[in-house]
Amino acid sequence: MTWKLFYNLKCFNSLSSSTKIGKVLITGVAGFIGFHVAKRLLASGLEVFGIDSMNGYYSTQIKQDRLELLKRFANFSFSSINICQRNDLESLFAANPFDLVIHLAAQAGVRYSLDAPHKYAESNLMGFVNVIEACRQQGVTRFLFASSSSVYGNQEGGVFSEDGFTDAPESLYAATKKANELIAHSYSKQFGMQTIGLRFFSVYGPWGRPDMAYFSFTKKILSGAPISVFNRGQMVRDFTYIDDIVDGVDQLIANLNQLPGYKIYNLGNNHPVKIMDFIGALELALGREALIDFQPMQAGDVVFTCADISSAQRDFDYKPCVDMESGLKVFVKWYRGYFGKGEAAKSE
Ligand SMILES: NC(=O)c1ccc[n+]([C@@H]2O[C@H](COP(=O)([O-])OP(=O)(O)OC[C@H]3O[C@@H](n4cnc5c(N)ncnc54)[C@H](O)[C@@H]3O)[C@@H](O)[C@H]2O)c1
Repeated sequence: MTWKLFYNLKCFNSLSSSTKIGKVLITGVAGFIGFHVAKRLLASGLEVFGIDSMNGYYSTQIKQDRLELLKRFANFSFSSINICQRNDLESLFAANPFDLVIHLAAQAGVRYSLDAPHKYAESNLMGFVNVIEACRQQGVTRFLFASSSSVYGNQEGGVFSEDGFTDAPESLYAATKKANELIAHSYSKQFGMQTIGLRFFSVYGPWGRPDMAYFSFTKKILSGAPISVFNRGQMVRDFTYIDDIVDGVDQLIANLNQLPGYKIYNLGNNHPVKIMDFIGALELALGREALIDFQPMQAGDVVFTCADISSAQRDFDYKPCVDMESGLKVFVKWYRGYFGKGEAAKSE
């Protein structure tokens, strides 16, 4: 039931595929976005090989549970590989002729990059080079990768367009994502690979990341604990529902033949909301009021995000269509099912 409701929110599904893709590698497949993208590609009949280190940055149980659902597809294979282990990657690529690599594995999270900088350097810099270099060595010419809205830094107001200023990252996390874009550019120029970066904007939804604010807010509101709201609630985010992101990736893949050798796209919602309005919608979905503990701005964080999505609209008809109220309702329904009657949610 959770899944049906989840998919009812979708506007459409492309992968009508003018681009011929057989076998896809998804790194970070047990992660939030990797899981959803894999599920979509598997359902459309593609052969997906997923890898993930299953690290303990957040609950490994939810990563295992996502994987269990993917393993139900006959066209899915998985290997527990850390992208920092170059030899393992090289063996994987030597044994599997991938047509496309979707590189999502990374140490995510802005705030944690203040505590554990080396994890970001290892996975997001060295790991990134290991994956893109394995592509080059094995002749994989199509490489999609996750960048982030955080590359825009602290710009107040306006709409962030891909050719705008991105040279003042507020966190090491953002700096690694910007570095990924530059490395991908060099591989496209030097080796003729098609490298496309996707700047995701605050993605939320079922099977989401427990470290993200909306997820921890939900847990705390349900248990009656106060939630910490930073910058005293003066934050604006372009929250993007996971189905819209998956649609975007799906349509992008279907249009790869028409896209340039190197390109960066924003995948956001283009409807920025005040964090207090977001909390209000979450309270409504939960039927409970939040106890709010206002806190000052946190280091590394940004005040405002809003994606200009006109490039993605023009190039692959990207049209996010899930509003915050509907998206949060589905998230809360999933959350209650997963943590309340866990087995029911997992079996769908
Ligand atoms: N969720 C968002 O709002 C958001 C926003 C902007 C960018 N992104 C980026 O999108 C990508 C996916 O994000 P997500 O939200 O699904 O995060 P996630 O943490 O849920 O998924 C990342 C996955 O990568 C795996 N991983 C991490 N380091 C690895 C390594 N060295 N080797 C192999 N696997 C490794 C993790 O175990 C995890 O399962 C990341 O690159 C992230 O930086 C996400």
